[in-house]
Amino acid sequence: MTAQRVCALSDLEQDAATRVEIDGVAMAVVLDSNGVVHAIGDVCTHGDISLSEGFVDGETLECWAHGSAFSLRTGKPLNLPAYEPVPVFAVTIDGDDVLIDPAVKLEVN
Ligand code: FES
Repeated sequence: MTAQRVCALSDLEQDAATRVEIDGVAMAVVLDSNGVVHAIGDVCTHGDISLSEGFVDGETLECWAHGSAFSLRTGKPLNLPAYEPVPVFAVTIDGDDVLIDPAVKLEVN
């Protein structure tokens, strides 16, 4: 599978999450305050909650349900109750296009 356009860079709001889906894979796309675009799995590993409905704080996205904050760089939760990471996807910016390949998950330690 190749990277697909999910949205326009200019449509992303800074420090906010946008839910996108490619072939049934839901992702939360975030433009952080440093201008970096991240894509992580959209489903909280603690419950069936969309992380893109949560809150961006620096390089984390916090689940609104019980407060686990996931690193946008590693996908790891930084606090309980979630303890399993969400996947992190490689993002490519091409002009004003945000591209993601859902088959390419970053291995982040
Ligand atoms: S459902 Fe996300 S922390 Fe509980």
